Amino acid sequence: MIRREEIIGDCRLLLGDMCEVLPALGKFDLCLTDPPYGIGEDGGRFRGRKGQNIRVLPKGNWDQTTPPASAFDAILASSAEQIIWGGNYFSDKLPPSKGWLYWQKLMGGDFADGELAWTSRDRALREFTKCPKGQGAEHPTQKPLELMLWCLTHAPSAKTVVDPFMGSGTTGVACAKRGLAFTGIERHEPYFDIACERIRKAYAQPDMFIERAPEPKQEALSL
Ligand SMILES: C[S@@+](CC[C@H](N)C(=O)[O-])C[C@H]1O[C@@H](n2cnc3c(N)ncnc32)[C@H](O)[C@@H]1O
Repeated sequence: MIRREEIIGDCRLLLGDMCEVLPALGKFDLCLTDPPYGIGEDGGRFRGRKGQNIRVLPKGNWDQTTPPASAFDAILASSAEQIIWGGNYFSDKLPPSKGWLYWQKLMGGDFADGELAWTSRDRALREFTKCPKGQGAEHPTQKPLELMLWCLTHAPSAKTVVDPFMGSGTTGVACAKRGLAFTGIERHEPYFDIACERIRKAYAQPDMFIERAPEPKQEALSL
């Protein structure tokens, strides 16, 4: 059930459960998403990184388990290509893939060296390097905008993009900046509101519709 719908430019934002909403939306060129990893990073007393000014939200209770296999089946059925962050947490629910993406976070300490995205690409593994320090502070697991812009370069023919686990809308902001049609689904209303606000601001910025960067030339890493 869609509890709310907001249209902002070429972005359609839907408040609801992706398991109910996504199968009814038809087919997209690309699903670029970041589902819950099931590791308890769901707001409330956020165990934040030092120096990060996270806006503390009421505990959302969305990161205690990973989504069911049917959620990934719906993603595969509703999109031609997929990039799914946290893929190593869902490897039992996704087919084998060669084309993983790796985000090296340069964090050190107790944090993981990086994060992995499962993709449907039959291509070499690619790496992106950026320290998340100073990234947005609207969502406890907010992805850097540069990372999502980089992901879009790996699906250069995609014109329509869906993110069924939208969070604070980073994928939507990236699509707005690249002039792509975006559909986002989020179940938790405070995050939905933040996504609306960020995408509205993105459309108001003067760097809109800057030319799409070509796919970066990086050395293939062997798996
Ligand atoms: C890892 S976060 C995404 C963060 C996002 N990449 C960002 O940059 O803000 C996952 C989001 O999925 C939402 N979520 C979890 N289960 C959902 C479901 N069944 N339907 C829709 N949204 C869901 C959570 O509320 C959470 O905001």
